[in-house]
Amino acid sequence: MSTTTSHSALLSPLAIGPLTLRNRVIMSALTRSRSAPTNVPNEVNLEHYVQRARGGAGLIVTEGVLIEQQGTEWQNAPGIWSQEQVAAWKKITSAVHAEGGLIFAQLWHLGRISHPDAPEQKAAGKPVYAPSAISARGGKFRFIPGEPGYVTPTAIDDPRVLIEQYKKAAINAKEAGFDGVELHGANGYLVHQFLDSTSNLRTDSWGGSVENRSRFGLEILKELVSVFGNKRVGIKLSPAGGYNDVGMPLQDTLDTFNYFISEADKLDLAYFCLARYLAMLDPTFDGKTRATQHDVLASYRQSIKKSLLILNAGLTPDEAEALISSKQIDAAVFGMLFISHPDLPKRIAHGIPLDNQVDFTTLYSGGPQATLEELRKGYNDYPEATYNN
Ligand code: PHB
Repeated sequence: MSTTTSHSALLSPLAIGPLTLRNRVIMSALTRSRSAPTNVPNEVNLEHYVQRARGGAGLIVTEGVLIEQQGTEWQNAPGIWSQEQVAAWKKITSAVHAEGGLIFAQLWHLGRISHPDAPEQKAAGKPVYAPSAISARGGKFRFIPGEPGYVTPTAIDDPRVLIEQYKKAAINAKEAGFDGVELHGANGYLVHQFLDSTSNLRTDSWGGSVENRSRFGLEILKELVSVFGNKRVGIKLSPAGGYNDVGMPLQDTLDTFNYFISEADKLDLAYFCLARYLAMLDPTFDGKTRATQHDVLASYRQSIKKSLLILNAGLTPDEAEALISSKQIDAAVFGMLFISHPDLPKRIAHGIPLDNQVDFTTLYSGGPQATLEELRKGYNDYPEATYNN
């Protein structure tokens, strides 16, 4: 990919409350399953994030960090429920700060997308929880032998139990030195399962109306803000996505997400990360794609008044530059480009082509037995460009 235009808007600093991003090139949360042998960030994770801080990332959002052992899908995803994990994350946040970077932890719980046979889920000894006992169609358990489908989850009796776990994770993230947290409210995981009327059939105060379906995510956000303060909590949403078998008719979608975003905006968040429709994350069932496609910027921008708006999914630097300079968004989030270019912002600044290809065979790790060298492959060995200054 060549960089033809200048990118002065994309490369300009951005203030988010007390934080100043050195540019508007944000690294997306990316599942890479490298925290082998268990769930504690390791030296390979450290190298990965440091490379990207050194490459100039304005803000790094970590991969999904599990708030609790219960509620996980992949092996070797890192967590933040134990002191051992907090100590390991502390090394990463310190090293990122030493490179002039900023880093948010993405807080993740998979709800009904967990599987009883996933190693962490098994070790937790608790059922798979979700708002309602409705299974997602499909199944993508990358490391579980055979092809198990999603299970019918146990409807959580009192969702406040889960909200407390998010709060505890935020307390741990603060202790670990993160600059803030991003609540994963997208892609059909737990928070999205509460928002979506096809996965939430509750008849108590946590389901039914738009207000009730929004309650879970809003209550979590309030707790996260109480821990981190104003402008240090972001949220990722994917209203136009169908990943993990979610999606409502268009009017319900607009009503739900406009209400949720307006209410969340009152909490003085750092940002809303809106993920655009992405065909790669849209499953097909019975010959039909699942998502309700619509333009997330046109549909939700007017509901965001106090917080920043950052856009994710399939952006190019040129497109990001145009959207930022025309004030449609405040910053741009890059995923795939950051996988294969640790020095993405530096390359953009120097007009160096983005010509490293993502190797899809090494997106995820080789599992708990993998050596550090194996974990580095396709993770920390994408080359940086050569710079003369
Ligand atoms: C994935 O690992 O496929 C994945 C995880 C989290 C997301 C999206 C995709 O938000």
